[in-house]
Amino acid sequence: MLKDIERVLVSSEELQKITERLGKQISEDYKDKNLLLVSVLKGSISFMADLMRNITIPCQIDFMALSTYGSGTESSGRVRVNKDLDIYPEGYDILIVEDILDSGRTLEYIINNMLLPKNAKSVKICTLLDKPERRVANITADYVGTSVPNAFVVGYGLDFDEKYRNLPFIGELKKEVYSD
Ligand code: IMP
Ligand code: MG
Repeated sequence: MLKDIERVLVSSEELQKITERLGKQISEDYKDKNLLLVSVLKGSISFMADLMRNITIPCQIDFMALSTYGSGTESSGRVRVNKDLDIYPEGYDILIVEDILDSGRTLEYIINNMLLPKNAKSVKICTLLDKPERRVANITADYVGTSVPNAFVVGYGLDFDEKYRNLPFIGELKKEVYSD
């Protein structure tokens, strides 16, 4: 697995610092709110697990699963809902926990079709990684772990073709792995 990684972009130590910083900020900002953390599966699993343990106020968690990418590295722009929330969003201050904000199409779809029509009280975005250069939809994150260059990244939950999710850091995938 390691031989397919060009370089480490965010180390385990940096990931830990990021989740501590964001957890502290979110705990402060949401202390009088009705916080529901919504993790977008599967990519945000590691981030969600670390972030929630750094949140010190009462909150609830739920999961949604969508697919946009298929097995390539370019977003198709189409979103398929594989799993919706168990908790009905009405009245909750929802914080979407995402692995990476790329074109922004996935989050745009979630917010406009799955959360706002069901009367969520507020909806904000917490993304571990931001690739601002790639944005197509009019979406900005409220909380960002760190920005990454326009390269395909894997690890800490993020995959290429369902692999590399178990790497404990974020790495840039070698181009020869996905372009042939
Ligand atoms: P968007 O709808 O284009 O913003 O795509 C968001 C989703 O695409 C993310 O939640 C990831 O699952 C996936 N994605 C985008 N860029 C990468 C990447 O560099 N590595 C792995 N997955 C990515
Ligand atoms: Mg993915």
